[in-house]
Amino acid sequence: MRAAAVVVAVLLAGCGAEDASRTAPPLKDPRTDVPLGTAVRWDVLSEDKGLQEVVATAFDSVTPENEMKPEVVQPKRGEWHFDDADAIVDFATGHGLEVRGHTLVWHQQVPGWLSEEKLSARELRAVMAEHISTVMRRYRGRVKTWDVVNEPLTDEGAFRTAPGAPWLPTLGPGYVELALRDARAADPDARLFVNEIGAESGGPKLRALVKLARTLKAKGLLDGVGLESHLSAKTPPTRARLQRTIEQLAATGVDVELTELDVEGGAPPAVYGDAAAACAAVPACKRVTTWGVSDRDSWLGEDAKALPFDADLRPKPAWAALTGGLRR
Ligand code: XIL
Repeated sequence: MRAAAVVVAVLLAGCGAEDASRTAPPLKDPRTDVPLGTAVRWDVLSEDKGLQEVVATAFDSVTPENEMKPEVVQPKRGEWHFDDADAIVDFATGHGLEVRGHTLVWHQQVPGWLSEEKLSARELRAVMAEHISTVMRRYRGRVKTWDVVNEPLTDEGAFRTAPGAPWLPTLGPGYVELALRDARAADPDARLFVNEIGAESGGPKLRALVKLARTLKAKGLLDGVGLESHLSAKTPPTRARLQRTIEQLAATGVDVELTELDVEGGAPPAVYGDAAAACAAVPACKRVTTWGVSDRDSWLGEDAKALPFDADLRPKPAWAALTGGLRR
């Protein structure tokens, strides 16, 4: 990162120039090897200049937290809403940040019409293809990485669904492959990911994820697996366990990213540092993304203190541990 920009960020991250010394060391070491991203919500980011500075200077990429999800992008069948997603992509490209696209097919945040219409397999297939192609083609060249399918597996390693989500019941488990085929066709240059929650510590879900990755990689349809990494301070994976998980996935030939890192219950620096170091230790692990910047805006609520910046946008000890761990 640009040194001058980091200095500006340090000043802005504190409560004014007189507090700058409290925020040293610099927000992001320019020599950090593993790229670092964060999730942003446009309603929050657009209103907060300080946050904009921190995102633009301390991170390398952004993930729209909700703005590219189907319920936002296609709230009614054939009616598209891209304003907030566009705003985030413009912000990112204007500041030299990459964008992770999130997400195209998921069993949550499904638009009401899609749950209600009870489409046939043939109709749903067409809806899926149209949705994926409309969204991905709009951002071709600007969004290089997509979470095409989000959270396809249960903790037991079966395919997962939820009330109102038609993908698995109507199309069967092959829906994952179908979605990836549509995504390849929509933007052949994009990196295509399956993103999964709760597989960091191993077990049946990770075994199923490795198997899925191997199959889809062999077909040339998958480039990466995202480990969300919503960790808890009470029962975090050890650094060795997380590294082994990343290695098991990487052994299938895919890239790995930690896509939604936060640590509920105080963001202990050791947990952030271990997660970063586990990624940095595996060449195939290409990026770490935190699920938000400041405790004030966390999806888990401010009391979870899960993020590396406090509610006043000051870097916590977790920040130094995170950035310190991202060295190869
Ligand atoms: C969450 C957002 O952070 C919330 O604002 C929203 O209300 C629900 O979704 N796994 C994912 C993310 O892949 O999309 C989820 O984001 C968190 C869990």
